[in-house]
Amino acid sequence: MQLTDEMRHELVQTALEARRWAYAPYSHYAVGAALLTHSGKVYDGVNIENAAYPDGICAERVAVFKAVSEGEREFVAVAVVTANGGSPCGSCRQVLAEFGLETIVLLANGDGQLLLETSVAQLLPGAFTPQHLHSEPG
Ligand code: THU
Repeated sequence: MQLTDEMRHELVQTALEARRWAYAPYSHYAVGAALLTHSGKVYDGVNIENAAYPDGICAERVAVFKAVSEGEREFVAVAVVTANGGSPCGSCRQVLAEFGLETIVLLANGDGQLLLETSVAQLLPGAFTPQHLHSEPG
């Protein structure tokens, strides 16, 4: 599926709107994500923190897990909105990589301004992928 400018805009807007539901009472760093599947559906996500700090989860992983739990495994793009265009953490890069290195990543700020367009492959060079588990040992 070809990502058009209109789709980019819609995805960023969805992430921006979702961001209001972020539960970030500890870091005060609200994150919204919106994930577009090959079937054309969009799953949003927000970061959800916890008083037991390590038990919180990032917005990107919430979006991916929502999608996968509904049978979606092929993703076109994910938009991430933060106050300042922050980039996905290492764990989110790894979870995105599981479902495709070609997934486009759009980073936008709190005004919905697109600051960077990149891909999972670019964000996680040399990723460990399912193929490593399935190929014959060398
Ligand atoms: N956070 C995300 O939601 N996505 C990322 O990729 C980076 C970090 C969240 C986790 C935590 O709730 C807050 O931002 C500060 O780290």
